[in-house]
Amino acid sequence: MFDSLRVPVIAAPMAGGPSTPELVAATARAGAFGFLAGGYLSAAALADQISTARALSDDAFGVNLFVPGIRSTVDLSPYTARLRAEGGRYGVEPGDPRWDDDGYAAKLDLLVEARVPVVSFTFGVPLESDVDRLHEAGSTIVVTVTSPDEAREAAAVGADALCVQGFEAGGHRGVFTDDVTDPFGGELHGVLAGLRLIAAATDLPLIAAGGLVHGADVAAVLTAGAVAAQLGTAFLRADEAGTHPTQRRVLAEGSRPTAVTRAFSGRPARGLVNRFLREHTDQAPAAYPQLHRLSKPIRAAAGRADDPEAMSLWAGQTYARAPHGPAEHIVTTLWHQAREAATRTAHRLT
Ligand SMILES: Cc1cc2nc3c(=O)[nH]c(=O)nc-3n(C[C@H](O)[C@H](O)[C@H](O)COP(=O)(O)O)c2cc1C
Repeated sequence: MFDSLRVPVIAAPMAGGPSTPELVAATARAGAFGFLAGGYLSAAALADQISTARALSDDAFGVNLFVPGIRSTVDLSPYTARLRAEGGRYGVEPGDPRWDDDGYAAKLDLLVEARVPVVSFTFGVPLESDVDRLHEAGSTIVVTVTSPDEAREAAAVGADALCVQGFEAGGHRGVFTDDVTDPFGGELHGVLAGLRLIAAATDLPLIAAGGLVHGADVAAVLTAGAVAAQLGTAFLRADEAGTHPTQRRVLAEGSRPTAVTRAFSGRPARGLVNRFLREHTDQAPAAYPQLHRLSKPIRAAAGRADDPEAMSLWAGQTYARAPHGPAEHIVTTLWHQAREAATRTAHRLT
């Protein structure tokens, strides 16, 4: 599937707004491949996005789902009290911190029915029986992994390809299990180390993700054996992305460091450092999606107030070097840069 792409670049699924059918269609027009993000959406809203993507383009595209994890039993009252005080700044109460599975079963049924060309999973592995159903519907299955052990698990349920996510990556880490005694959710591998270690653990085709914002980065991971490069942050400021205007502004400023935090959602994720992240990261328990729900009204109120200090500003380490403009132009430029870098490298190596 990814071998035959004219441009081996994938616009990553980015839940919470940035991924749109328009972004998917525009990346495909330029010869790359786009994902819709099924996370946080109801099955009905995801169905609408799939219909829109199909109305905009005949090209293949993918849909990503969050695999539900085990329900954390950690006492949430201390963190709820913190966020009540935080909400006071914005005149809102924290949300109801209930656990749910993000409507996973209904969305899986939808994807089987909709016969989507590629279905990718993060936060865990789908059941083998669900992989079988999706295979029967003609879908290629991708699982995001961060370690050789996760890669073996994904291969065992029948994944067709793996997305190797390095610690540079923006957004949530795809770790299968999360443990509060481990601040980052598993050993941290950069994307090249991840590719090398995971290639030794499985024969599956590997897609590389994490910190790739220039065509030379794309060329580097292809040289390291990846079949394609999956870029999220590089498309956050694409014209067609649904990224919040406040996030676009602070991304463009390029002055903040990034860090990994559980403070917003209860799962480790990389974003721009702001006040909320600084003040709450140390106290945040591993409880996804309870913390996601708890912080949601506060993040939304901060967004309405154009205040970046309490928003989850997910972005990868290299965001300050990421492009902006029409997605087609971003893809074309990446490919031009990648070819130039490859030519330079070939010259240097001969
Ligand atoms: C804003 C944002 C939202 C993301 N949402 C998702 C998601 O819904 N599903 C997923 O598998 N990965 C998600 N990711 C992670 C990407 O798939 C990918 O691993 C990451 O963007 C790669 O690093 P980069 O951002 O430095 O390119 C998200 C990343 C960002 C920046």
